[in-house]
Amino acid sequence: MSKKIAVLVGSLRKGSFSKQIAKNLMKLFPSDYEPEFVEIGNLPLYNEDIDTPENVPAEYTEFRNKVKDAAGVLFVTPEYNRSIPGGLKNALDVGSRPYGQSIWDKKPAAIVSVSPGAISGFGANHALRQSLVFLNMPILQQPEAYIGNVTQILDEDGNVAEGTVGFLQSIVDAYVELLNRY
Ligand SMILES: Cc1cc2nc3c(=O)[nH]c(=O)nc-3n(C[C@H](O)[C@H](O)[C@H](O)COP(=O)(O)O)c2cc1C
Repeated sequence: MSKKIAVLVGSLRKGSFSKQIAKNLMKLFPSDYEPEFVEIGNLPLYNEDIDTPENVPAEYTEFRNKVKDAAGVLFVTPEYNRSIPGGLKNALDVGSRPYGQSIWDKKPAAIVSVSPGAISGFGANHALRQSLVFLNMPILQQPEAYIGNVTQILDEDGNVAEGTVGFLQSIVDAYVELLNRY
């Protein structure tokens, strides 16, 4: 049976460079893995008042079930103001509750930060790491995945240049090795 990998993209915009990088990464998984995008843009802002058995939004339940079903989570995110976009933090919060039923617990994760700038989303990468440590996710350590100057890497069809495929493959290979340990 193929192993599902939930792919969460921190950007909600249609032409997102992060999403384009995510698509390139998804093509590089071995055939027994099934990476798939999980939507985060439709999740209502987390509010404990609505997260009750009577009121829980259908979007929360669908999101939680999809991630629960996955063997691991690949995060590909831009940096907003030296941290992660609010939508991605909201998704982490939604998945972490109800208390004691976190969907993130023990799920191996990989983080890829993406930016048109030279600092490569370093701040977002590590802000995300901070939350994932608390959420008890084993996180890929090496290679660290900071994709900077992304507009120079992607062609007009959204494919990465030949030289970058090898780097993306090394990230996926190391992540698969991590997944195989769990
Ligand atoms: C609210 C906001 C804050 C941003 N802050 C940063 C930042 O701290 N660091 C950075 O490298 N880029 C920053 N940017 C620029 C984004 O990297 C750029 O818009 C990028 O294309 C967003 O990723 P996407 O293409 O996946 O949507 C910011 C953009 C927005 C909209």
